[in-house]
This record gives sequence, structure tokens and C-alpha cells, in this order.
Amino acid sequence: MNVPEKLRIAPSLLSADFSKLGQEVRAVERAGADLLHVDVMDGHFVPNITIGPLVVASLRGKTRLPLDVHLMIRDPGFYLERFMDAGSAIITVHAETCSVAKIRGFRDTLRRRGIKLGVSVNPETPVRKLWPILNYADMILVMSVHPGFGGQKFIPAALGKIRAIRQRYAGDIEVDGGITHETAPRVVAAGANILVAGSYIFNARSLRTQIKRLRACVG
Ligand code: DX5
Ligand code: ZN
Repeated sequence: MNVPEKLRIAPSLLSADFSKLGQEVRAVERAGADLLHVDVMDGHFVPNITIGPLVVASLRGKTRLPLDVHLMIRDPGFYLERFMDAGSAIITVHAETCSVAKIRGFRDTLRRRGIKLGVSVNPETPVRKLWPILNYADMILVMSVHPGFGGQKFIPAALGKIRAIRQRYAGDIEVDGGITHETAPRVVAAGANILVAGSYIFNARSLRTQIKRLRACVG
């Protein structure tokens, strides 16, 4: 199966300085990011709490980057409308939180507004859970760490999952967690084309150099 051609880098704001989010977003845009990955956590689906639609809406005014909103929340349907109105370009829900029928409904709702639907799977979720929904998803997000925190170590079992998905799926495959210049070439070789990177980018001295480095290591 053909991989979408262009590799895209999506810095995750989770590792940014939350006291100056506007500046961080502008800095990462200037540094050459393609998307802005926004991690939404509710303290139920994952043991951490981050930000909600109000913050996403104010970020919308600070950047032209598409907002790639990753909903790690127990009831994505309840909040979908609010994240749509906040200016998301892609909204990703977790397969662990939704039935196939719900996912199909989300796809229809988002499509009417020109917003893409991503569906994510946690490390412990078998990849076959995705098969019934591949037709409805514009993007699959493979978690390569347990969701909830930045700065964790890449789980290599994600590679087999990416390969299995790529055999059946021509859309975007995003990988999230533990992405560095060491893991990026492996996930891209497996079939991924969007890399989320939080600590690797934001903990670097130069955002621009680090984003370039990530692109170069898979080139
Ligand atoms: C984890 C989040 C990730 C996180 C990745 O639950 O979904 O987006 O920010 O962080 P790093 O790149 O540091 O593993
Ligand atoms: Zn994420």
C-alpha cells in the first residue's frame, strides 16, 4: 500500500511551557512544524488533566497551523461539538472509548464541517479493533507510549501495529509517544507519515534545529 508522500511533524504542546502557550505555539510554527498536536486529558481516561476547548479556541487565534486535537477523554461525543467550534482541523478519539456506530456518527458530523476524524489505539489495544472503523477514519493514531504523560520511552510493539495497519489502510498514520531521531526512522519505515513529538522538540535548545533533525533522520 502506498504511504502518503509527505512526512509531517506535529509538535505536542504537552511539553511546552503552559504559562506562555501563545509564544510557544508561534515559536514552533516559525521553527517549521506542520501541525500542532494538542493533548486533551480528562483525568478519567488517563490519569492526568490538561486543557479544554476554551484553550484550544484561544490557540486558534495564535497560529495558522492546523490544530491536531487528541482527545484522551472518556466521553468524546459529549465534547465533540465544543472542540469543533474551537477550531480543530483534526479531532482524534480513542477506539477504547467508542463503538463503531459512534465513530461513524462522529465521522459524519465532522465531515459536514470539513474537520478530519482520527481514531487512536492504546498500546494494550489489539490492532484488530481498528479493522471495522478503517473506512470511517481520515487518520489512525498509534500510541507508542501509555497515554497521559510526555517524555516516556517508545514501546517497540507499536511498529508491528503500524505495519499491519499500513497493509490495509492508505490514509494518514500518526505515531505518538517517545519519538526521537532514533525511533522516527523505524516508525516511518513501518508506514507512519505523521510524527508527534513533545519532549524531543520542546526540550531542545533550538526548536528549528530539532524539527530539521527529525525530518532529516527519516529522509
Ligand atoms: C501522551 C501524549 C503525547 C505526548 C508525547 O499521552 O498523547 O502527545 O505529548 O510526548 P513525547 O513526545 O515526549 O513522548
Ligand atoms: Zn497525543
